Amino acid sequence: MTIQGLNYERLLQISKRVNWRLEDIIGRDKPMDFARPFLPESFARTQGLDFLSPAERLKLNQIRGHGYLAMFELVERCILPMVEDLTQARTDPDPHRAPALAQFAEEEEKHIELFVRFRRAFAEGFDVDCGFIGPVEDIKAAVLDHGRLGKAMFVLGIELATQRHYLDSVERDEGLDVQFKSLLKHHWMEECQHAKLDAMVFFELAAQATPAEIDQAFDDFLDIGGFLDGGLGQQTALDLVALEAAIGRTLSDAHRERFTEVQHQAMRWTFLGSALRNEAFLDALAQVSPKGRARIEEVAPAFC
Ligand SMILES: [Fe+2]
Ligand SMILES: [Fe+2]
Repeated sequence: MTIQGLNYERLLQISKRVNWRLEDIIGRDKPMDFARPFLPESFARTQGLDFLSPAERLKLNQIRGHGYLAMFELVERCILPMVEDLTQARTDPDPHRAPALAQFAEEEEKHIELFVRFRRAFAEGFDVDCGFIGPVEDIKAAVLDHGRLGKAMFVLGIELATQRHYLDSVERDEGLDVQFKSLLKHHWMEECQHAKLDAMVFFELAAQATPAEIDQAFDDFLDIGGFLDGGLGQQTALDLVALEAAIGRTLSDAHRERFTEVQHQAMRWTFLGSALRNEAFLDALAQVSPKGRARIEEVAPAFC
């Protein structure tokens, strides 16, 4: 089980070449434009909520943008200890493995700071405070409380999903905020290497696992997904509170219900479905377990 033409040394070289600086993406001279949407409509799904005016839908799009920043900051905080753990679980004698994983961790730390800075810029420019699920440490502990292979599968999926986030921001011109678009692009530029590294580590761990351990990894992966989905449901409620505060009116019960249904599903697609439907992810799963891939494809429609 290998990825053609890939090795740790080559990935490290590419990562060092791609590496960008935070100052190039966000800062005082690069303000966020609150007259524009932040997230592509394919993820925000605000247009179908016809009980909101265009200006209110824009507010919702930006609230969802804030949730995106907070969610990825959280995901990166979960990924960091996983990378450290994988560095210690040395299963491949390649001398470039540890330096490649160290570069990966360094980039994730930079990404955390990227999301923190964007959230700060958001808080300065948006009318109301937006809530986010937590405590982050508790969520992180619950995610990390799974087997190594299942967690490696989760990281591979979510990092590949950032490709769709970037592509959807450029494939249709929706007049997105330039800074947010740049974040999606630059994040993917580095995640692209991470995802390849994830795949190498995933295959490395899978090669040593028994069939029962591989089945367990799929259980763990689905368990992490189900746990996060519960969090997305709670986030939908927090976004509703933020929206009502931002637009200065309370929605009717029927509209709140519709909001919750549409927005929870939109978040499922953003953070889970876009991974479950990623072809590179499904291919990697099939190489390890065709039966496992079939299980994932069976649940995918619920997250799309
Ligand atoms: Fe990242
Ligand atoms: Fe990453």
